Amino acid sequence: MHVAVAGGRSGTIGASIVSALLAHNHTPIILSRQTSTNPSGSTSISSSPSGVSTRYVDYDSHDSLVHALHDTTAVISALLIPGPEFVPYQLNLLRAAEEVGCARFAPSEFALPFAAHQAVDIDHAKVAVWDAVKAANIDAALFPCGMFMNYLGIGAPRVAEALAGFREGPLMFHLGDPEGAPWVEVPLGRDGEVPSLTMTDIRDVGEFVVAALEMEEPWGGRELGMVGETLKITEVVGLCERYLGRKVEVRVVEMVSLEERLRRLDPGDVLAKMDCQYTMACGNGDSVVEPVLNALCPEVRPLGVKGFLEKFWM
Ligand SMILES: NC(=O)c1ccc[n+]([C@@H]2O[C@H](COP(=O)([O-])OP(=O)(O)OC[C@H]3O[C@@H](n4cnc5c(N)ncnc54)[C@H](OP(=O)(O)O)[C@@H]3O)[C@@H](O)[C@H]2O)c1
Repeated sequence: MHVAVAGGRSGTIGASIVSALLAHNHTPIILSRQTSTNPSGSTSISSSPSGVSTRYVDYDSHDSLVHALHDTTAVISALLIPGPEFVPYQLNLLRAAEEVGCARFAPSEFALPFAAHQAVDIDHAKVAVWDAVKAANIDAALFPCGMFMNYLGIGAPRVAEALAGFREGPLMFHLGDPEGAPWVEVPLGRDGEVPSLTMTDIRDVGEFVVAALEMEEPWGGRELGMVGETLKITEVVGLCERYLGRKVEVRVVEMVSLEERLRRLDPGDVLAKMDCQYTMACGNGDSVVEPVLNALCPEVRPLGVKGFLEKFWM
């Protein structure tokens, strides 16, 4: 398969999909934004033995995208654009993929299940993208994976390996705070219950996407969820204590307190708002992904939380 991966050069998820494609003897073709030294239409070849091509594109130009996709069979978007271009750039990719006759298209998801997007402002754009993708003439799927398990690697002794290219700061799990003891914010559901949470290692996301690309049966506009492991947050805390060898403080937060925190935030502080809304979505149980792809592709054996902590904290 010749698979175009938008955001596969420097992107966390994109790079994991490119690595998995190479590991399974497929041909990834990276799409990357044009730069002054690499204008739209130019190509660079990686100097590593893999020799992967990066094609530089203008995501605003249909012709540029059609040219870049001319010999590809599928397009996976792993873009993350913190601005309004997130929707039109992916729709331009979709139109170009349709024009060149690509068989499959996946928009950039790789987080909460689709139903949770309304609860997180920054994810509203994903709803707009999917509305167009599901109406298009191409076999498409959504790939939710829950929270990246790699958040549990922040501060680990083998941090670089644990993060697998992930560059964000902590969310809910504050295990590597150099100033103090590790702690976890546990949002309580409105029923007073501790919620469950799905976590998947970034590398397994790549493996699952490639397994889905190798599937003969149509994706059919389904939500093809992938799951590393789903546990109650307090179970994750218990495992963290075991593998960090330290007490992990649990800071329970009720939904009303999170609502109050959200109200007090500067409306322009997009990242703090996103963190608060993700924590609330988790409290509402919206961070649990159905393991649809696990059942369809049992050959993928994802890392669980225990395996992850053992590997990177011991
Ligand atoms: N589940 C989780 O815990 C979690 C955490 C973080 C992210 N995510 C999701 O995972 C997906 C991918 O995120 P990621 O963290 O892998 O992203 P990332 O590492 O930030 O990479 C995104 C890529 O998008 C491209 N890009 C950035 N700004 C752009 C712009 N203005 N125009 C065009 N391209 C641009 C860049 O590629 P070039 O520079 O090569 O063009 C960049 O490498 C997103 O849907 C995100 O919501 C999930």
